[in-house]
Amino acid sequence: MKITGTGSALPEKVVTNDMLAGFLDTSDSWITSRTGIRTRHLLSTETLTDLALKAANAAIASSGVQPEDIDYLICSNVANSYVSPSLGSILLAPLGLCCPTFDLNGACAGLVYSLDIADSFLKTGRAKNILIVAAEEPSRFCNWHERETSVLFGDGAAALVVTEGEGFKDFLLTADTHTEVLYYKRSLEETPYDRLDEKTEPLVMNGREVFRLAVTSCIDDIDKILEKNNMSGHDIDLYLLHQANFRIIESIRQHLEQPREKFPTNMQNYGNTSSASIGILIDELSRTGQLKDGATLLLSAFGGGFVTGAAILKWSQINY
Ligand code: ACO
Repeated sequence: MKITGTGSALPEKVVTNDMLAGFLDTSDSWITSRTGIRTRHLLSTETLTDLALKAANAAIASSGVQPEDIDYLICSNVANSYVSPSLGSILLAPLGLCCPTFDLNGACAGLVYSLDIADSFLKTGRAKNILIVAAEEPSRFCNWHERETSVLFGDGAAALVVTEGEGFKDFLLTADTHTEVLYYKRSLEETPYDRLDEKTEPLVMNGREVFRLAVTSCIDDIDKILEKNNMSGHDIDLYLLHQANFRIIESIRQHLEQPREKFPTNMQNYGNTSSASIGILIDELSRTGQLKDGATLLLSAFGGGFVTGAAILKWSQINY
């Protein structure tokens, strides 16, 4: 499998750390020093569907594939206003697609999970061209009366078109049950038989524990996938890691003893956009010519659950 088209979209509204400090007990210096995040884009006038469509249309256009030739749509999304239909179903008609679709919730590792599934579909001949859309609005499940989580996230969407080719070399996915470290709970309707008094709880996070799990599990994944492919950290040209926190990336980089230039970041501008983050990074780097033809990339992401995903691929240049 190889990536033949990329796209991304961000909300117009840019929110700085100082703007947050206007109504939360926080500061630009705390957020910047603890996370590396300076601004994030938050949905205000647009919808998540608008972002997803914009990213998907850009990916389809850059791939050169016609919408009617896309034979699967995989949508990575943690939560949006609709529980049903799936976000994929909502996107099909406006994109001019007529193909099966489903949503996948792999938290922030959802894009890597989607790529792994797409790779299996291509290998088994179930599909030839697959559109993957990662669209996330984490701002809509944070508690905006508290400073702990709301300052970390941003909204955004990314899309990739994948097709047969010599690109992806290997995947490594993991999952474990750690509900307590990071969760967002939505209340469901009462029934005559079940009146459980369960309230919606905006995102609850044990930041220190997520930080620890993120660093240890990503290091473990990267070490394992490199070893399995008889590679060392030096064989990777760029590490495209989940953009949650600059210090998490820095801890992983130090373990790998690799130079900082190999770890491009954009969380400083967009915050943590959940499963869209690596896709937005790929799109930006590719469109600005920073992904060289033949470059070896390593993707690594972690998220609530606790799930992680890593992949190694050789990049093929896309002409936009
Ligand atoms: N502004 C100011 N102070 C704050 C803020 C804030 N926004 N948030 C917390 N604090 C305070 C706390 O109340 C606490 O105060 P106390 O010491 O008086 O109790 C203190 O800052 C916490 O300090 P530390 O624990 O030292 O903070 P730390 O260096 O661990 O940074 C952070 C916290 C940024 C949350 C870090 O732990 C982290 O990034 N964890 C990972 C989070 C993450 O990546 N989540 C998403 C992953 S999965 C996904 O992407 C969906």
